[in-house]
Amino acid sequence: ERGLRVADKGFLNTAVITSEITYIDGDNGVLRYRGYPIEELALHSNFLEVAYLLIYGSLPSRPNFKVFQREVMTHSIVHVDAEGLFKSFRYDAHPMAILSSAFSALGSFYEEANPSLRGQNLFTKSDPASLANMDKQIYRIIGKATTFAAMAYRVRQGRPFVTPPTGLSYTASFLYQMDHLGQEDYVPSPTLAKALDILFILHADHELNASSTTVLQTGSSLVDPYSCMAAGIASLYGPLHGGANEAVIRMLISIGHPENVPAFLESVKKRERVLSGFGHRVYKTSDPRSFIIRKIADEVFKETGEDELLKTAMVLHDLAMKDEYFTSRKLAPNVDFWSGLIYRAMGFPMDFFPVLFVVPRVVGWLAHWRQMMLQPGGVKIWRPRQVYVGETKRDYVPMEQRV
Ligand code: SDX
Repeated sequence: ERGLRVADKGFLNTAVITSEITYIDGDNGVLRYRGYPIEELALHSNFLEVAYLLIYGSLPSRPNFKVFQREVMTHSIVHVDAEGLFKSFRYDAHPMAILSSAFSALGSFYEEANPSLRGQNLFTKSDPASLANMDKQIYRIIGKATTFAAMAYRVRQGRPFVTPPTGLSYTASFLYQMDHLGQEDYVPSPTLAKALDILFILHADHELNASSTTVLQTGSSLVDPYSCMAAGIASLYGPLHGGANEAVIRMLISIGHPENVPAFLESVKKRERVLSGFGHRVYKTSDPRSFIIRKIADEVFKETGEDELLKTAMVLHDLAMKDEYFTSRKLAPNVDFWSGLIYRAMGFPMDFFPVLFVVPRVVGWLAHWRQMMLQPGGVKIWRPRQVYVGETKRDYVPMEQRV
């Protein structure tokens, strides 16, 4: 077919949409949500306020924030039938597999997910009722993200599920559901809840990364947003994407002590190993999130005690940053290099780390999904082409004549 050009491998330098949500300047290490620098949001805001900003485009007034917060926290309650789904998994099932299944099943709980009801122009800016319906689906997904994650954690721990508490912040409620062991007056650590809140702000969105693209590709067929989340989780699960924070810890454990770092770096240069937590498709100087996360690590370690892998991570960081092999390829720490050390210090199991990426990232996925649903002219299904390079026409050969 004339005129078709194959995009660079991995969609390198290929833009498929215009967006008003997140701005990244990869050469200068800049990240802004709706124009606000990530550093200012991490310092002054909180995760639910940033969620509102990303989804609706502006910082909320106090009354609007109160409604948003109340709706999200109310929708954190999960239908008891969902418990059966979680209990059907073995205790050692990967929590990302559980989470993807749970969101896929979530659609079956709600009438609006019924395919026969999902036609074009389902949501239109001029129809307040359709916008309210969309908002309800958004509240449900953000609210249930923590409850589902906590339930997946409890499956792993072999413990009963905990009903979301009232009166706690989004991340404190999440920690409460995970760590509550029946103590009457249990209150999660404010330091850890705050650290998790900032980490969630940093992980909330990142323009059109692999999982956000998956969500939009899926959503372009007008399937329900719950199924879009399940697809996004599957993409984020991979070690080149959200699974990297788990891969970093497995890498640090395999290196062992700091004196083994030079030999490890040699194995990376021979392409026998990957330096997980380093490199980025867009950032070619530094990932601004990694600096903030590094600082959070020190705060958390003051409360939890320092992780013995931190020294290995610091030696690995310092040697790689001075090594021409990495500097010539513009490789620097990304969002995943330090975050795993924090989650480990907070006591999460290693394969739970990508779940801590999913919970905040559903906000970014929803912001992009809403932007696509409300785009002028309605939704157009994403159906790229290919350039065919296979066999030319040939005739069928009966089995007995084949060699
Ligand atoms: C996330 O897209 C996003 O925004 C993602 C994310 C988000 O918020 O959504 O930021 C979250 O996914 C962060 C990235 C987490 N992944 C990892 O840490 C895994 C390790 N990183 C690499 O796999 C890699 O850097 C990627 C996948 C992140 C980016 O890959 P690219 O853009 O396709 O880059 P590339 O593979 O073309 O690398 C260019 C060169 C190559 O060398 P040459 O073949 O040219 O000699 O750099 C090398 C690569 O071999 N390289 C690495 C490396 N990353 C790239 N070599 C060793 N270790 C690495 N980590």
